[in-house]
Amino acid sequence: MDFKGKTAFVSGGTRGIGLAIAETLAKGGANVVINFFRSRNSADEAIEKIKSNGVECYAHRANMGKAEQLAPIFDKIKKKFGKLDILISNAALGTYSSLLEVDDKAWQIAMDTNARAFLRCIQLAVPIMPENSRIVALTSIGSSSYIPGYASIGISKAAIENIVKYAAVELAPKKINVNCVSGGFIATDSLKIFPNFEYMLKEASARTPHKRVGTPQEIANVVAFLASQESSWVTGQTILADGGFRLT
Ligand SMILES: NC(=O)c1ccc[n+]([C@@H]2O[C@H](COP(=O)([O-])OP(=O)(O)OC[C@H]3O[C@@H](n4cnc5c(N)ncnc54)[C@H](OP(=O)(O)O)[C@@H]3O)[C@@H](O)[C@H]2O)c1
Repeated sequence: MDFKGKTAFVSGGTRGIGLAIAETLAKGGANVVINFFRSRNSADEAIEKIKSNGVECYAHRANMGKAEQLAPIFDKIKKKFGKLDILISNAALGTYSSLLEVDDKAWQIAMDTNARAFLRCIQLAVPIMPENSRIVALTSIGSSSYIPGYASIGISKAAIENIVKYAAVELAPKKINVNCVSGGFIATDSLKIFPNFEYMLKEASARTPHKRVGTPQEIANVVAFLASQESSWVTGQTILADGGFRLT
């Protein structure tokens, strides 16, 4: 994919799927701004990997769950690069709880960090996005299927999939396409919120026709397509990349 001359922002781009996306965009020539909240070390390591592709990169520390911390991200991008071509909403947070256990705090963490952050990032980014820009959000099969302990996150992911539909229509006049990639099980740190995550991965592998879980790069490849100019006729969609898990 050719991303030369493009500027991309990847929330939570320091580890796991976000890092794979940031590196893939950088390999295609994009300058990449990554975001993180907790681990400065992961951010520093990620910057080195991304820069090794000969592109510019810096990490912006901000808690995506705090609305007031979002505007400075886009102010700085405008100042440094003058525009944003690719917005990737990848950072996610949530707590392990069944629906009946979801209290106000669990609801707020998931909805603020996942759904509201995506909405606000769109609102802040669009004024600096030229025509033919791309917006991609990460969701998961828990948005539409039951996963034990995933209630608050799954509901926030469903909200993201609906934001994508509204944004796709409203941003079509600017030729900005907006889509989601919904991943099946990928072995990353985020699954560690599940007390039985090793068992979950084993079960998911057994159920998946390919008999394994996916890799961050396999999700990044789909995101890169949606971030590219080749996806011009795809908007408002949630693309499922799960190795066939949902077929069984
Ligand atoms: N892994 C899976 O099986 C899977 C499946 C489908 C979809 N997804 C989705 O793919 C995305 C990435 O997941 P992942 O598994 O790669 O996650 P991960 O390995 O846990 O990485 C999460 C990234 O987000 C950052 N982050 C977390 N909370 C943040 C906050 N409040 N503000 C700013 N940054 C924050 C983390 O940085 P710090 O820790 O430094 O804050 C890190 O860079 C998520 O949206 C997830 O729901 C994952």
